[in-house]
Amino acid sequence: MAERLDLTVDLGRGLRLRSPVLVASGTFGYGFDAPQVDRAALGAIVTKGTTLRAREGNAPNRIAETPSGMLNAIGLQNPGVDHVARVYAPVWTSWNLPVIVNVAGDAIDEYVAVARRLDGVAGIAGLELNISCPNVADGLQFGVEPDLAAELTSAVRAVTRLPVIVKLTPNVTDIVAIARAVEDAGADAVSAINTYVGMAIDVRRRRPVLSRVSGGLSGPAIKPLALHAVWQLAQAIRIPVIGVGGITTPGDALEFLLAGAAAVQLGTVNYTRPEAAGEVHDGIAAYLEEHGWPDLGSLPIRSAGVLANA
Ligand SMILES: Cc1cc2nc3c(=O)[nH]c(=O)nc-3n(C[C@H](O)[C@H](O)[C@H](O)COP(=O)(O)O)c2cc1C
Repeated sequence: MAERLDLTVDLGRGLRLRSPVLVASGTFGYGFDAPQVDRAALGAIVTKGTTLRAREGNAPNRIAETPSGMLNAIGLQNPGVDHVARVYAPVWTSWNLPVIVNVAGDAIDEYVAVARRLDGVAGIAGLELNISCPNVADGLQFGVEPDLAAELTSAVRAVTRLPVIVKLTPNVTDIVAIARAVEDAGADAVSAINTYVGMAIDVRRRRPVLSRVSGGLSGPAIKPLALHAVWQLAQAIRIPVIGVGGITTPGDALEFLLAGAAAVQLGTVNYTRPEAAGEVHDGIAAYLEEHGWPDLGSLPIRSAGVLANA
């Protein structure tokens, strides 16, 4: 069935994916630990947030379950960019699957140094900037202030030929303003969204469950919120929007595509149902087939912006 269909997606600057289904940063490591996931169904892997130097992350508890998703405060545990470039990237060259490195830091210079180190390294298809990190200079997250988000984006843009995707935080008053700022600063695409800040309390011990008190909420609980953000963004900016947040089924992914997303990322579901990515890919293909549409651009609501007036 799927052979006649074209599920490719163009995310700009030569980043062409064979499928609109990606796995989200932090839920798939560096691609080595999830043999259950059918790599053939994936458009790309987005790695764990990578910093200039190795980081150990936060002390336990770093994860808490909630009735409809999970809270995490992993704290950017990663081996550092040099290890990624020297040890992981050479392996990725043999995968026939683009790997996008998620980049994090606590100063603009750190993001720039990571981007510089990865520029021209075989096996790396793009960068995704996690702008939900606090800037040590003022304690403010890069992603909550349009000027700061733009400054970070253009600084990275200036030192790499790789496609630059900016991952937006939903913990802001006006996500569209941030997206417009990073688009103007040279981002090739945005992904929306990162996790929502939340917390959980152990009433027996009368203490927060997470060692860092607050953490990021992900999973089905945030899907309607993420969908709304994507719908707003798709109308406001011209660069592609990658939808992420609570997607677990083909129907969820189709909602994002109809809201205007060019592609989707699956995150938390990879922990409980690693086969979901393959199912979502096949479900999107079946939906196109059922309607006689040859490619994703044929989705009529998406291309005509009909939802904008709904
Ligand atoms: C355990 C965990 C670790 C994460 N680490 C990162 C990270 O390093 N960088 C990043 O940009 N997003 C990170 N995220 C956010 C996810 O990539 C995604 O944006 C979010 O979880 C919403 O999608 P989901 O509901 O499908 O999980 C992490 C999420 C989880 C659950």
